[in-house]
Amino acid sequence: RPTTPTSIVIIGASGDLARKKLIPALFHLFCNGFLPERFRVVGFARTPLDDESFRQEVAETLTTRFQPEPGECALAVGHFLKRCHYHQGQYTRADDFRTLGRRIEGLAGPRSGLLLYMAIPPDVFLDTARSIRAAGLADEEERPWSRVVIEKPFGRDTASSSELTRALGKIFSENQTYRIDHYLGKEAIQNLLALRFGNRILEPLWNREHIESVEICFSEDIGTQGRAGYFDRFGIIRDVVQNHLLQALALVAMEQPIRLTPGEIAREKDRVLRATRPMNAASTLVGQYEGYRQEPGVPEDSITETFVRTTLHVDTPRWYGVPFEITAGKALAERKTEILVRFRDLPVAFFPGAATNTLRIRIQPDEEIELQLNNKVPGMNMTVTPVGLNMLYQQEFATALPEAYERLLLDVLRGDRSLFIQQEELAAAWEVVTPYLQERERLLKRPPEYPYGCQAPHIFLRSDETPYPGEEAPEATPPGTRP
Ligand code: BG6
Repeated sequence: RPTTPTSIVIIGASGDLARKKLIPALFHLFCNGFLPERFRVVGFARTPLDDESFRQEVAETLTTRFQPEPGECALAVGHFLKRCHYHQGQYTRADDFRTLGRRIEGLAGPRSGLLLYMAIPPDVFLDTARSIRAAGLADEEERPWSRVVIEKPFGRDTASSSELTRALGKIFSENQTYRIDHYLGKEAIQNLLALRFGNRILEPLWNREHIESVEICFSEDIGTQGRAGYFDRFGIIRDVVQNHLLQALALVAMEQPIRLTPGEIAREKDRVLRATRPMNAASTLVGQYEGYRQEPGVPEDSITETFVRTTLHVDTPRWYGVPFEITAGKALAERKTEILVRFRDLPVAFFPGAATNTLRIRIQPDEEIELQLNNKVPGMNMTVTPVGLNMLYQQEFATALPEAYERLLLDVLRGDRSLFIQQEELAAAWEVVTPYLQERERLLKRPPEYPYGCQAPHIFLRSDETPYPGEEAPEATPPGTRP
């Protein structure tokens, strides 16, 4: 448990992220004794609220989220609420941040650590950062520490992202900047390092000699869920591929870092992303779900993609020639994120019934690792069948898994940047997607539609939208499986 008295300021406290993720995560950390003895949560936003009405909102969030039983949890809600405060202000007004600073001093004392969480839309991002700086809140000489957490989108492409990095770099030091990618806070993603570098049996096989392909699939059974305004400006490639899925790819494909320090891990991820060939139209398919353009906030002629399937190549000696198939889509049949490693088949098909060995890493829901091996079918014949050796987190580990945001917020309080994105790897990930995104935007072609809730879009056209002459649409293939 960190010991320094701490103020946690949520800038954009009345927004979705604060309500759905940050407040519940802080509360959970509090209940489990991970927050410092002396802490304050201060909500900052434009909405006119006071401490009382903010506490009511927080209480509502917590009771819908945790449905606290009367007794211990209800008591904890009461204690937590007493430490919640609200400060109304404009993001662009440094004066409002100055009064916030005085307020924090009054609440937590002049020597408290300061966590500033920017849960705000990208268009007010830089102005807010400047106000924070002008008000002296980012000054580390004034306090034990001041750390700023920023959320994606970190730009829209290589140029805008590096411009944002440059501009923010003038305001905050890299060391105090925590770029969050909540996928890195997920247990099964963190486990990739342990799985790969903590087991003797995998490493010798983890290369092009033995691995045929790697699939990384993200599918959601919901649409944009009231976030259409944001989503339509970005699309699924910027929303989840550029960040979450390329991070997963980097962790699967990177070399072993020489130490488990933030710098060394980021260096290896950066190297692998820089060795990844940029996405291209010939190996990319995009789609848009039916009804998307009728959603409030989406223009009638939107060309935004809600589905993508692309093949990436990592040009390192370890991976040369191994396809990394990336699939991501909203409004599909199920909610699932997983990584599937397919091993090469044996040179001689010795046993009838044998299938490809695979290692499936289920990130969510129901975290799981499953190794599929061929096993003799009991009986008089020598035939084999694929069977899964699996480890379900829920069965194996008695404790509930911490939410990604809990883990990441605690890391910020501890000053541990291992699970945060560093600027070089951010730039490298943008380089992978930018040429393709620019090409799409230049062509202004609407992607083909797919039915809401389907297994995977049936109409797989090339992303330039020209149907292959005389070609049938391929059979739908559920994410994570092969025809
Ligand atoms: C966010 C995206 O980063 O990740 C959302 O903006 C997406 O569009 C979400 O729904 C998925 O997160 P999770 O943790 O539910 O897989």
